[in-house]
Amino acid sequence: MTETSPTTTDTKGLPEKLESLKEAAAKYLPESKEELAVFIRELKECIRIRAAEGINPSAYLDLIKGIIEHLSAYIGINFVSDYQKIEITDTITFYSFQLPGGGNLNIFDTPEGKLVLDTGYGCFFEDCQEMTDNLGLGDFSDVKKVICTHADVDHCGAAGYFEALPLMHQVTKAILDAGTRGYGSPNGKELLEKVYTIVINTISGLKMPDSVILTGTEPLAHRGLFPVIGYVTFSGMNFEIWESLGGHIAGQLLLFEPDLGILFTSDAFINFKTLSKERASYCSIADSMIGSVNVNSETARTERQELVRLAAEFEKELREKGKELLICCGHGAVCRLEGGNLVPAGEILRYRASDFRDKKEQ
Ligand SMILES: [Fe+2]
Repeated sequence: MTETSPTTTDTKGLPEKLESLKEAAAKYLPESKEELAVFIRELKECIRIRAAEGINPSAYLDLIKGIIEHLSAYIGINFVSDYQKIEITDTITFYSFQLPGGGNLNIFDTPEGKLVLDTGYGCFFEDCQEMTDNLGLGDFSDVKKVICTHADVDHCGAAGYFEALPLMHQVTKAILDAGTRGYGSPNGKELLEKVYTIVINTISGLKMPDSVILTGTEPLAHRGLFPVIGYVTFSGMNFEIWESLGGHIAGQLLLFEPDLGILFTSDAFINFKTLSKERASYCSIADSMIGSVNVNSETARTERQELVRLAAEFEKELREKGKELLICCGHGAVCRLEGGNLVPAGEILRYRASDFRDKKEQ
């Protein structure tokens, strides 16, 4: 993603800006003086690093303020989500919700209950549950399986609110325990990754259960460059679990249902064209704070190319059987391939919490 911040390194007015940010972030800051001092020291070091890379120090602080303002603006009555509703079989309906900030919440509504693939931020959990209830698919009490594709909290941040323990890669668990998305991927940006992780995990209300279910790690088969490290079976669906190569973040999982033709690429492949301007701009905050959201950009490029190649291959095979491939990226609309282009699958609908609350109050 491109960085849109100014490129001067002027530090004039920085102390005032830091004070104003402290005020906006008061409820998120560590209570102990020692912890706060460490955080401020590390934050200042990040400001210095990014200033040398062309990000204005006060613009860096504005990025953090931007996260606080963006997420707070959509909690509760102002919650909105774009979504697609796709009939997968006679009995299974797939919903992909593009939440106001961060990754998609994917839900398979089946006769055996719900399967949730990526949870969105913790701060939106209540709003998401109210949304599914309002849309007629009930609350989350029948969620039987939760899968977290990776450790970024826009994908796993609400995992601790579900009764079902989340399934994730052991490296994802280790990243969450370490408190930095840079864990396991030394790239010279360790402090930038750590401070970004602390900021986003805290502001977005990460809630993780003490125990999780771990996937296997041994390759059982291969799909192109990706090892298949396990399988998830639910209500007649059989997903292969692939291990990414670690370009976006270590331990990222991709999922593929070969018979139904559903490919979840998580953040290894994102169709930016289907992102609203506002979502794209929110996504760019992480890029601007760290330099890149991919811990290894070259590997990320290889993964994208391989996914595009595999998608074209799967699409061809499925067409021969009269089926189509659904491509579900970590962010943006669920798409089909049409003439080599990604085209949103079906109508993109909009949910507004206010529409339903108004009705209830009448
Ligand atoms: Fe993401």
